[in-house]
Amino acid sequence: MAGYSDLPYRLIAREMGSAVSFTEFSPAVTVTHKPVQEQKRIVFHESERPVIVQLFGNEPAQFVRAALYLAETDFRPEGIDINMGCSVQRVSSRGSGAGLLKNIPLAARIASELVKLNLFAISAKIRLGWDDASKNYLEVATALESEGVRTVSVHARTKSQGYKGSADWDAIGEVAQKVKIPVFGNGDLQSHEDAQTRIRQHRLRGALIGRAAMGNPWIFLGKNKSDMALSERLPTIRRHLSLMANFYGSAMAARLFRKHLTAYLSDLDISPQLRSKLFSAVTAEGLRSCLAEDCFSDYE
Ligand SMILES: Cc1cc2nc3c(=O)[nH]c(=O)nc-3n(C[C@H](O)[C@H](O)[C@H](O)COP(=O)(O)O)c2cc1C
Repeated sequence: MAGYSDLPYRLIAREMGSAVSFTEFSPAVTVTHKPVQEQKRIVFHESERPVIVQLFGNEPAQFVRAALYLAETDFRPEGIDINMGCSVQRVSSRGSGAGLLKNIPLAARIASELVKLNLFAISAKIRLGWDDASKNYLEVATALESEGVRTVSVHARTKSQGYKGSADWDAIGEVAQKVKIPVFGNGDLQSHEDAQTRIRQHRLRGALIGRAAMGNPWIFLGKNKSDMALSERLPTIRRHLSLMANFYGSAMAARLFRKHLTAYLSDLDISPQLRSKLFSAVTAEGLRSCLAEDCFSDYE
């Protein structure tokens, strides 16, 4: 997830039991612009394997160039995932992300050219269609399967829904019945148990947890933050911050960590004084000292 599932977060999620790492989506067209190791959105750690690098774009050649470049630089994730789900206007209106749902022949060409390279396992993440009047998930999934895509993940909403309404898990079940390749379901899962139930119910290969994992990596362990005292959460929060500081440098980590912190503490009534201390720290060290146990002694 863009802005959240970066390398530091994914390491934490993996320690908690996540089964596979998907990188934040990255434009296929910029992959060749600088050394892979400097591309924060797609680098990964060996301990994360299996890792799937997710790319978006609207031209087969962009994806092919990106895949060749990654392979030439000996950058070897287990797979490349084609993003066909992003609903953000500046992506989907240009025919990328969920925009590809409106052009199945183009999506199929992107998939087939990537598959033909025979360099990475190719997968795709789709939505149910552009809008209610054009739900084409079965057609999209079938087209991708026939081009040799190995797995499909389905976020069970349309592009026009964005994140509104509820995910239609019956539609995910239909996809799983229709295609032979493994299907991953996604949308509105609130717990590990929820995910297991849906996997069993619809005979899926797995399930993807999105927003419910923000500030809640314990979800992969079968726990939710709301069932944990703050003192139980703090060691993970501090470890996450340290990993961010190593990855981004101290100042940027302090800034980027704010949204994670908001999510980690979202169910607690934090005093305005402590809040302002936490959210005004400009270095990771400063923030770390605000995350000491005694700062939170009122919140048990
Ligand atoms: C902030 C944010 C960033 C996201 N970034 C990505 C992304 O880079 N790639 C992707 O496939 N989906 C992305 N998504 C969509 C989620 O992966 C997921 O499909 C969606 O949130 C529905 O699942 P959920 O109900 O469990 O959150 C993002 C969602 C959010 C809220």
